[in-house]
Amino acid sequence: MAIIQLRNVSKTFHDGSSEVNAVADVNLTVEAGDIFGIVGYSGAGKSTLVRLLNGLEQASAGEVDVRNQDITKLSAKDLRNFRRKVGMIFQHFNLLWSRTVEENIELPLEIAGVKKVERKKRAQELIRLVGLEGRGKHYPSQLSGGQKQRVGIARALANNPEILLCDEATSALDPQTTDEVLELLLSINKQLGLTIVLITHEMHVIRKICNKVAVMGKGTIVEKGDTLEIFRNPQQDITKRFVKKETAEDDTEGILQAFQEENPNGLIVNLHFTKDSAEEPLISQAIRKFPIDISVIQGAIQKTSTGRFGNLTVLLNGPAKDQEKTLLFFQEQGVDVEVLSHE
Ligand SMILES: Nc1ncnc2c1ncn2[C@@H]1O[C@H](COP(=O)(O)OP(=O)(O)OP(=O)(O)O)[C@@H](O)[C@H]1O
Ligand SMILES: [Mg+2]
Repeated sequence: MAIIQLRNVSKTFHDGSSEVNAVADVNLTVEAGDIFGIVGYSGAGKSTLVRLLNGLEQASAGEVDVRNQDITKLSAKDLRNFRRKVGMIFQHFNLLWSRTVEENIELPLEIAGVKKVERKKRAQELIRLVGLEGRGKHYPSQLSGGQKQRVGIARALANNPEILLCDEATSALDPQTTDEVLELLLSINKQLGLTIVLITHEMHVIRKICNKVAVMGKGTIVEKGDTLEIFRNPQQDITKRFVKKETAEDDTEGILQAFQEENPNGLIVNLHFTKDSAEEPLISQAIRKFPIDISVIQGAIQKTSTGRFGNLTVLLNGPAKDQEKTLLFFQEQGVDVEVLSHE
Protein backbone atom coordinates (compact mmCIF):
# COMPACT_ATOMS: atom_id res chain seq x y z
CA MET A 1 0.00 0.00 0.00
CA ALA A 2 1.38 3.40 -0.94
CA ILE A 3 1.71 5.65 2.08
CA ILE A 4 3.39 8.49 0.18
CA GLN A 5 2.75 9.37 -3.44
CA LEU A 6 4.22 12.38 -5.20
CA ARG A 7 2.79 13.32 -8.58
CA ASN A 8 4.65 15.82 -10.75
CA VAL A 9 5.80 17.74 -7.70
CA SER A 10 7.89 20.87 -8.12
CA LYS A 11 9.19 23.45 -5.69
CA THR A 12 10.59 26.71 -6.96
CA PHE A 13 12.22 29.25 -4.69
CA HIS A 14 12.27 32.87 -5.75
CA ASP A 15 15.45 34.45 -4.63
CA GLY A 16 15.23 38.11 -5.55
CA SER A 17 15.11 38.10 -9.33
CA SER A 18 16.45 34.56 -9.74
CA GLU A 19 14.55 31.29 -9.49
CA VAL A 20 15.79 28.03 -8.04
CA ASN A 21 14.02 24.82 -9.11
CA ALA A 22 14.89 22.90 -5.95
CA VAL A 23 12.49 20.07 -6.82
CA ALA A 24 11.45 19.63 -10.45
CA ASP A 25 8.62 17.37 -11.57
CA VAL A 26 9.24 14.52 -9.15
CA ASN A 27 7.16 11.33 -9.12
CA LEU A 28 7.71 8.99 -6.23
CA THR A 29 5.88 6.21 -4.40
CA VAL A 30 6.78 5.01 -0.92
CA GLU A 31 5.05 1.87 0.31
CA ALA A 32 4.04 1.47 3.95
CA GLY A 33 6.88 -0.20 5.83
CA ASP A 34 9.59 0.89 3.38
CA ILE A 35 12.88 2.31 4.47
CA PHE A 36 13.21 4.59 1.48
CA GLY A 37 16.56 6.25 0.90
CA ILE A 38 17.14 9.45 -1.04
CA VAL A 39 20.73 10.02 -2.00
CA GLY A 40 22.34 12.91 -3.86
CA TYR A 41 25.03 15.54 -3.75
CA SER A 42 24.71 18.78 -1.86
CA GLY A 43 22.08 21.07 -3.33
CA ALA A 44 20.29 18.26 -5.19
CA GLY A 45 17.02 19.14 -3.46
CA LYS A 46 16.82 16.30 -0.93
CA SER A 47 15.92 18.40 2.11
CA THR A 48 13.37 20.37 0.14
CA LEU A 49 11.80 17.12 -1.05
CA VAL A 50 11.34 15.69 2.46
CA ARG A 51 10.12 19.02 3.81
CA LEU A 52 7.35 18.77 1.22
CA LEU A 53 6.31 15.47 2.79
CA ASN A 54 5.34 17.01 6.12
CA GLY A 55 4.13 20.32 4.78
CA LEU A 56 7.11 22.31 6.06
CA GLU A 57 7.38 23.47 2.45
CA GLN A 58 4.43 24.04 0.14
CA ALA A 59 4.75 22.52 -3.33
CA SER A 60 4.68 25.02 -6.21
CA ALA A 61 2.99 22.39 -8.38
CA GLY A 62 1.83 18.80 -8.18
CA GLU A 63 0.17 16.53 -5.68
CA VAL A 64 1.67 15.38 -2.39
CA ASP A 65 -0.44 12.47 -1.14
CA VAL A 66 0.50 11.25 2.30
CA ARG A 67 -1.70 8.69 4.06
CA ASN A 68 -4.26 9.10 1.31
CA GLN A 69 -4.72 12.82 1.57
CA ASP A 70 -3.34 15.56 -0.61
CA ILE A 71 -1.56 17.61 2.03
CA THR A 72 -1.17 20.61 -0.27
CA LYS A 73 -4.90 21.11 0.30
CA LEU A 74 -5.04 20.85 4.10
CA SER A 75 -6.09 23.80 6.25
CA ALA A 76 -3.55 25.14 8.74
CA LYS A 77 -5.25 23.29 11.59
CA ASP A 78 -5.49 19.98 9.72
CA LEU A 79 -1.87 20.36 8.71
CA ARG A 80 -0.86 20.68 12.39
CA ASN A 81 -2.73 17.48 13.25
CA PHE A 82 -1.29 15.75 10.22
CA ARG A 83 2.27 16.64 11.26
CA ARG A 84 1.90 14.65 14.46
CA LYS A 85 1.74 11.53 12.33
CA VAL A 86 5.02 12.39 10.64
CA GLY A 87 8.09 12.51 12.88
CA MET A 88 11.38 14.05 11.81
CA ILE A 89 15.00 13.84 12.92
CA PHE A 90 17.89 16.05 11.89
CA GLN A 91 21.64 16.06 11.45
CA HIS A 92 22.19 18.36 14.43
CA PHE A 93 19.49 16.78 16.57
CA ASN A 94 17.54 20.04 17.28
CA LEU A 95 17.32 19.30 21.02
CA LEU A 96 16.53 21.92 23.62
CA TRP A 97 19.68 22.33 25.66
CA SER A 98 17.95 23.59 28.79
CA ARG A 99 15.75 20.49 28.99
CA THR A 100 16.62 17.02 30.19
CA VAL A 101 16.31 13.96 27.98
CA GLU A 102 12.86 13.19 29.42
CA GLU A 103 11.70 16.76 29.01
CA ASN A 104 12.89 16.86 25.40
CA ILE A 105 10.97 13.68 24.63
CA GLU A 106 7.87 15.04 26.35
CA LEU A 107 7.85 18.26 24.36
CA PRO A 108 5.71 17.11 21.41
CA LEU A 109 3.31 15.49 23.90
CA GLU A 110 2.97 18.76 25.79
CA ILE A 111 2.19 20.53 22.53
CA ALA A 112 -0.41 17.86 21.73
CA GLY A 113 -2.00 18.48 25.15
CA VAL A 114 -1.23 15.07 26.66
CA LYS A 115 -1.60 14.93 30.48
CA LYS A 116 1.49 14.96 32.64
CA VAL A 117 1.15 11.43 34.07
CA GLU A 118 0.66 9.99 30.62
CA ARG A 119 3.54 12.04 29.22
CA LYS A 120 5.94 10.71 31.85
CA LYS A 121 4.85 7.16 31.18
CA ARG A 122 5.25 7.54 27.42
CA ALA A 123 8.67 9.17 27.83
CA GLN A 124 9.86 6.19 29.89
CA GLU A 125 8.63 3.75 27.22
CA LEU A 126 10.45 5.69 24.54
CA ILE A 127 13.63 5.88 26.58
CA ARG A 128 13.62 2.09 26.79
CA LEU A 129 12.81 1.75 23.10
CA VAL A 130 15.84 3.80 22.01
CA GLY A 131 18.19 2.32 24.62
CA LEU A 132 18.69 5.35 26.86
CA GLU A 133 17.78 3.76 30.20
CA GLY A 134 19.27 5.71 33.10
CA ARG A 135 19.83 8.86 31.03
CA GLY A 136 16.41 10.43 31.45
CA LYS A 137 17.62 13.14 33.83
CA HIS A 138 20.71 14.00 31.78
CA TYR A 139 21.01 17.16 29.71
CA PRO A 140 21.93 16.98 26.00
CA SER A 141 25.39 18.43 26.74
CA GLN A 142 26.11 15.33 28.84
CA LEU A 143 25.41 12.95 25.98
CA SER A 144 27.44 11.60 23.07
CA GLY A 145 26.32 12.33 19.50
CA GLY A 146 24.77 8.90 19.16
CA GLN A 147 22.85 9.33 22.40
CA LYS A 148 21.62 12.77 21.31
CA GLN A 149 20.27 11.26 18.11
CA ARG A 150 18.53 8.57 20.17
CA VAL A 151 16.77 11.38 22.06
CA GLY A 152 15.86 12.90 18.68
CA ILE A 153 14.39 9.57 17.57
CA ALA A 154 12.44 9.10 20.83
CA ARG A 155 11.05 12.62 20.55
CA ALA A 156 10.09 12.07 16.90
CA LEU A 157 8.21 8.90 17.88
CA ALA A 158 6.38 10.43 20.86
CA ASN A 159 3.05 10.90 19.04
CA ASN A 160 3.16 7.45 17.45
CA PRO A 161 3.81 8.66 13.93
CA GLU A 162 3.38 6.39 10.93
CA ILE A 163 6.23 8.00 9.03
CA LEU A 164 9.67 9.07 10.16
CA LEU A 165 11.65 11.51 8.03
CA CYS A 166 15.40 11.54 8.58
CA ASP A 167 17.45 14.39 7.12
CA GLU A 168 21.13 13.39 7.26
CA ALA A 169 20.46 11.93 10.70
CA THR A 170 23.80 10.15 10.87
CA SER A 171 25.99 12.64 9.04
CA ALA A 172 27.40 14.14 12.25
CA LEU A 173 28.28 10.73 13.71
CA ASP A 174 31.37 8.53 13.45
CA PRO A 175 31.08 5.27 11.44
CA GLN A 176 30.56 3.02 14.47
CA THR A 177 27.87 5.26 15.97
CA THR A 178 26.29 5.65 12.53
CA ASP A 179 25.86 1.90 12.33
CA GLU A 180 24.36 1.75 15.83
CA VAL A 181 21.80 4.45 15.01
CA LEU A 182 21.01 2.70 11.69
CA GLU A 183 20.46 -0.57 13.58
CA LEU A 184 18.06 1.24 15.88
CA LEU A 185 16.12 2.69 12.93
CA LEU A 186 15.93 -0.74 11.32
CA SER A 187 14.63 -2.34 14.51
CA ILE A 188 12.03 0.40 14.98
CA ASN A 189 10.92 -0.07 11.38
CA LYS A 190 10.46 -3.80 12.00
CA GLN A 191 9.00 -3.51 15.51
CA LEU A 192 6.55 -0.70 14.90
CA GLY A 193 6.00 -1.07 11.16
CA LEU A 194 7.13 2.54 10.83
CA THR A 195 7.76 3.84 7.32
CA ILE A 196 11.08 5.68 7.10
CA VAL A 197 12.21 8.17 4.47
CA LEU A 198 15.85 8.84 4.85
CA ILE A 199 18.09 11.39 3.17
CA THR A 200 21.79 10.91 2.98
CA HIS A 201 24.82 11.59 0.84
CA GLU A 202 26.37 8.30 1.94
CA MET A 203 25.66 5.16 -0.04
CA HIS A 204 26.77 3.19 3.02
CA VAL A 205 23.63 4.31 4.86
CA ILE A 206 21.46 3.26 1.92
CA ARG A 207 23.13 -0.12 1.64
CA LYS A 208 22.81 -0.84 5.35
CA ILE A 209 19.09 -0.30 5.88
CA CYS A 210 17.13 0.95 2.86
CA ASN A 211 15.05 -1.47 0.80
CA LYS A 212 14.44 1.21 -1.86
CA VAL A 213 16.50 4.12 -3.07
CA ALA A 214 16.05 7.18 -5.25
CA VAL A 215 19.03 9.10 -6.58
CA MET A 216 18.55 12.85 -6.88
CA GLY A 217 20.42 15.31 -9.03
CA LYS A 218 19.53 18.95 -9.65
CA GLY A 219 15.99 18.67 -8.34
CA THR A 220 15.01 15.54 -10.25
CA ILE A 221 15.08 11.85 -9.48
CA VAL A 222 17.49 10.36 -11.97
CA GLU A 223 17.12 6.74 -10.90
CA LYS A 224 15.07 4.76 -8.39
CA GLY A 225 14.37 1.17 -7.47
CA ASP A 226 15.15 -1.66 -5.10
CA THR A 227 18.42 -1.01 -3.33
CA LEU A 228 19.91 -4.34 -4.30
CA GLU A 229 19.05 -3.84 -7.96
CA ILE A 230 20.52 -0.36 -7.98
CA PHE A 231 23.75 -1.56 -6.37
CA ARG A 232 24.03 -4.46 -8.76
CA ASN A 233 23.10 -2.59 -11.88
CA PRO A 234 23.36 1.19 -11.62
CA GLN A 235 22.31 2.85 -14.88
CA GLN A 236 22.97 6.57 -14.57
CA ASP A 237 26.44 8.09 -14.21
CA ILE A 238 25.66 9.78 -10.92
CA THR A 239 24.34 6.49 -9.49
CA LYS A 240 27.44 4.69 -10.72
CA ARG A 241 29.60 7.24 -8.94
CA PHE A 242 27.77 6.75 -5.66
CA VAL A 243 27.82 2.96 -5.93
CA LYS A 244 31.44 2.89 -6.94
CA LYS A 245 32.49 5.01 -3.99
CA GLU A 246 30.75 2.65 -1.62
CA THR A 247 32.16 -0.53 -3.13
CA ALA A 248 35.61 1.11 -3.36
CA GLU A 249 36.50 -0.43 -6.69
CA ASP A 250 39.67 1.58 -6.77
CA ASP A 251 42.30 1.39 -9.40
CA THR A 252 44.18 -1.83 -8.93
CA GLU A 253 45.90 -2.00 -12.30
CA GLY A 254 49.24 -2.35 -10.53
CA ILE A 255 48.24 -5.38 -8.55
CA LEU A 256 46.69 -7.06 -11.57
CA GLN A 257 49.79 -6.43 -13.65
CA ALA A 258 51.98 -8.01 -11.00
CA PHE A 259 49.75 -11.11 -10.91
CA GLN A 260 49.86 -11.39 -14.66
CA GLU A 261 53.64 -11.17 -14.75
CA GLU A 262 53.93 -13.92 -12.14
CA ASN A 263 51.41 -16.07 -14.04
CA PRO A 264 52.03 -15.45 -17.72
CA ASN A 265 49.67 -18.27 -18.74
CA GLY A 266 47.01 -17.41 -16.23
CA LEU A 267 43.80 -15.65 -17.10
CA ILE A 268 42.57 -12.79 -14.94
CA VAL A 269 38.83 -12.33 -14.93
CA ASN A 270 36.36 -10.22 -13.10
CA LEU A 271 33.25 -12.10 -11.99
CA HIS A 272 30.31 -9.83 -11.44
CA PHE A 273 27.62 -11.46 -9.33
CA THR A 274 24.23 -10.02 -10.05
CA LYS A 275 22.05 -12.93 -9.00
CA ASP A 276 21.67 -14.56 -5.63
CA SER A 277 24.28 -17.13 -6.57
CA ALA A 278 26.46 -18.19 -3.69
CA GLU A 279 29.90 -17.03 -4.79
CA GLU A 280 32.04 -19.49 -2.83
CA PRO A 281 30.27 -22.69 -3.98
CA LEU A 282 30.47 -21.59 -7.63
CA ILE A 283 34.22 -21.23 -7.37
CA SER A 284 34.69 -24.61 -5.70
CA GLN A 285 32.32 -26.27 -8.16
CA ALA A 286 34.39 -24.92 -11.02
CA ILE A 287 37.58 -26.26 -9.45
CA ARG A 288 36.03 -29.72 -9.09
CA LYS A 289 34.65 -29.72 -12.65
CA PHE A 290 37.75 -28.57 -14.49
CA PRO A 291 41.50 -29.23 -14.09
CA ILE A 292 42.26 -25.64 -13.11
CA ASP A 293 43.30 -23.54 -10.12
CA ILE A 294 41.43 -20.43 -9.14
CA SER A 295 42.95 -17.82 -6.87
CA VAL A 296 40.96 -14.87 -5.64
CA ILE A 297 42.91 -11.66 -6.21
CA GLN A 298 40.39 -9.38 -4.68
CA GLY A 299 36.77 -9.43 -3.76
CA ALA A 300 34.08 -7.02 -2.83
CA ILE A 301 30.98 -9.00 -2.10
CA GLN A 302 28.66 -6.76 -0.14
CA LYS A 303 25.39 -7.07 1.66
CA THR A 304 22.34 -4.91 1.44
CA SER A 305 19.38 -5.44 3.72
CA THR A 306 17.86 -7.81 1.16
CA GLY A 307 20.69 -9.63 -0.61
CA ARG A 308 24.23 -9.65 -1.90
CA PHE A 309 26.04 -8.31 -4.92
CA GLY A 310 29.58 -7.65 -5.96
CA ASN A 311 32.73 -8.57 -7.80
CA LEU A 312 35.45 -11.12 -7.45
CA THR A 313 38.64 -10.76 -9.43
CA VAL A 314 40.23 -14.16 -9.88
CA LEU A 315 43.21 -15.75 -11.59
CA LEU A 316 42.59 -18.96 -13.54
CA ASN A 317 45.55 -21.27 -14.08
CA GLY A 318 45.36 -24.37 -16.24
CA PRO A 319 45.06 -25.52 -19.84
CA ALA A 320 43.67 -22.79 -22.10
CA LYS A 321 40.65 -24.84 -23.21
CA ASP A 322 39.70 -25.53 -19.59
CA GLN A 323 40.01 -21.85 -18.77
CA GLU A 324 37.48 -21.22 -21.50
CA LYS A 325 35.15 -23.95 -20.25
CA THR A 326 35.33 -22.46 -16.79
CA LEU A 327 34.30 -19.05 -18.10
CA LEU A 328 31.38 -20.64 -19.92
CA PHE A 329 30.38 -22.44 -16.75
CA PHE A 330 30.29 -19.16 -14.82
CA GLN A 331 28.24 -17.51 -17.54
CA GLU A 332 25.75 -20.37 -17.48
CA GLN A 333 25.35 -19.77 -13.74
CA GLY A 334 24.33 -16.17 -14.40
CA VAL A 335 27.64 -14.54 -13.55
CA ASP A 336 28.85 -11.63 -15.70
CA VAL A 337 32.36 -12.49 -16.80
CA GLU A 338 34.85 -9.88 -17.89
CA VAL A 339 38.31 -10.97 -19.02
CA LEU A 340 40.94 -8.55 -17.78
CA SER A 341 44.05 -10.25 -19.17
CA HIS A 342 45.23 -8.80 -22.42
CA GLU A 343 47.40 -10.82 -24.70
N1 LIG B 1 14.32 28.62 1.46
C1 LIG B 1 15.04 28.64 0.33
N2 LIG B 1 15.12 29.76 -0.42
C2 LIG B 1 15.83 29.78 -1.58
N3 LIG B 1 16.49 28.72 -2.06
C3 LIG B 1 16.46 27.58 -1.36
C4 LIG B 1 15.74 27.47 -0.13
N4 LIG B 1 15.87 26.20 0.35
C5 LIG B 1 16.66 25.55 -0.53
N5 LIG B 1 17.01 26.37 -1.57
C6 LIG B 1 17.82 25.99 -2.73
O1 LIG B 1 17.27 24.82 -3.29
C7 LIG B 1 18.30 23.93 -3.74
C8 LIG B 1 18.14 22.59 -3.04
O2 LIG B 1 18.42 22.73 -1.67
P1 LIG B 1 18.27 21.54 -0.61
O3 LIG B 1 18.57 22.09 0.72
O4 LIG B 1 16.96 20.88 -0.80
O5 LIG B 1 19.42 20.54 -1.10
P2 LIG B 1 20.01 19.25 -0.39
O6 LIG B 1 20.05 18.19 -1.41
O7 LIG B 1 19.29 18.97 0.88
O8 LIG B 1 21.50 19.70 -0.07
P3 LIG B 1 22.45 19.34 1.17
O9 LIG B 1 22.98 17.95 0.89
O10 LIG B 1 23.53 20.35 1.10
O11 LIG B 1 21.64 19.42 2.42
C9 LIG B 1 19.61 24.64 -3.43
O12 LIG B 1 20.03 25.27 -4.59
C10 LIG B 1 19.24 25.62 -2.35
O13 LIG B 1 20.08 26.73 -2.38
MG1 LIG C 1 19.84 18.95 2.87
